[in-house]
Amino acid sequence: MKLRIALLAGDGIGPEITAEARRTLDRTAERFGHRFEYREAPVGAAAIDLTGDPYPEETHRICLESDAVLFGAIGDPKYDNDPTAPVRPEQGLLRMRRSLGLYANLRPVAVTESLIDRSPLKPEIVRGTDFICVRELTGGIYFGRPQGRDQAGTRAFDTCTYTVAEIERVLHTAFRMAGARRRRLTVVDKANVLETSRLWRETARRLAAQYPETEVEYLFVDNAAMQLIRQPSHFDVIVTENMFGDILTDEASVLGGSLGMLASASLGDGPALFEPIHGSYPQAAGRNIANPMAAILSGALLLEHFGLKEEAETIRQAVDHTIRDGFVTEDLARPGERSCTTSEVGDRIRARV
Ligand SMILES: NC(=O)c1ccc[n+]([C@@H]2O[C@H](COP(=O)([O-])OP(=O)(O)OC[C@H]3O[C@@H](n4cnc5c(N)ncnc54)[C@H](O)[C@@H]3O)[C@@H](O)[C@H]2O)c1
Repeated sequence: MKLRIALLAGDGIGPEITAEARRTLDRTAERFGHRFEYREAPVGAAAIDLTGDPYPEETHRICLESDAVLFGAIGDPKYDNDPTAPVRPEQGLLRMRRSLGLYANLRPVAVTESLIDRSPLKPEIVRGTDFICVRELTGGIYFGRPQGRDQAGTRAFDTCTYTVAEIERVLHTAFRMAGARRRRLTVVDKANVLETSRLWRETARRLAAQYPETEVEYLFVDNAAMQLIRQPSHFDVIVTENMFGDILTDEASVLGGSLGMLASASLGDGPALFEPIHGSYPQAAGRNIANPMAAILSGALLLEHFGLKEEAETIRQAVDHTIRDGFVTEDLARPGERSCTTSEVGDRIRARV
């Protein structure tokens, strides 16, 4: 298969981890007889430095002309520490998601045997964890308008909005996903307080009739946050709005030991986008210490999206073996265990592929 991939490395550790993901994809292509072509394009703070725009028109064009997008991370302390900066890297991320129509962000969380004793939680709690969180990605409070401050600057406001159409399309994705798995869907909201959440719940109840084979349960987000670390193996597919999904999946990443392990796929109207769920981890930038596995596993999701199941599974197995053999970066290393560099881990994974 021939695939054109837009490579948007972004900021901080983005370039290091996407380089490992690319090399792993290339190794997989070599083994299975595929051809992947990459076009690199700037995004985030790197793009602001180059063009003044965190998601330049040219980058958008390259994404649209590609079969898929492989994205690293954006974010830079110079903007994080300056809340008044008029142009911010995160605006690029949100605009990219919105203009590519990426409304469903799928985040698989599976704790394999190799990760069980690297989790900060007890083995009997994390064993058997295998769920997907479907996070709505282009609506809710991150996109709602108006947003801003009053003239005196003493009052700030954000707006959370959802339409039935926005909720329905991501719910259909989640119901289909549950139907192909263990047929349990957990809808997470805050329907006891928020009107948007009541609309989510009402819409989910209505759509549930179309998917009678799937058992649907409803959880308030505060309870869901607790159940995720109390009994994570209970979950099969979780679906939720943008901000709740953002927060819950960072929490969920700890089940497997590190934020540096969690990959994601964003699906929508145009080319799909694949990215680790973590940010640009600026403290590690350029130090060759960040965990590249989330980026590499995002590459596996990309292959799976195009039906290359065996290839994706080969990468997953290679990651799993590499952890089992003890070749891990410092975020996953046990006390006293030697930690490897980003590139060492990447090399080990490729040797396994
Ligand atoms: N999708 C994105 O691009 C995205 C997501 C979240 C945050 N951000 C941005 O990233 C910047 C830093 O934000 P943050 O510190 O809150 O989040 P972060 O995800 O960059 O890092 C949080 C912590 O997680 C750990 N971590 C993250 N990635 C890791 C990896 N690959 N290997 C090992 N450990 C890893 C580190 O301990 C790190 O301190 C900010 O500018 C923020 O806006 C971007």
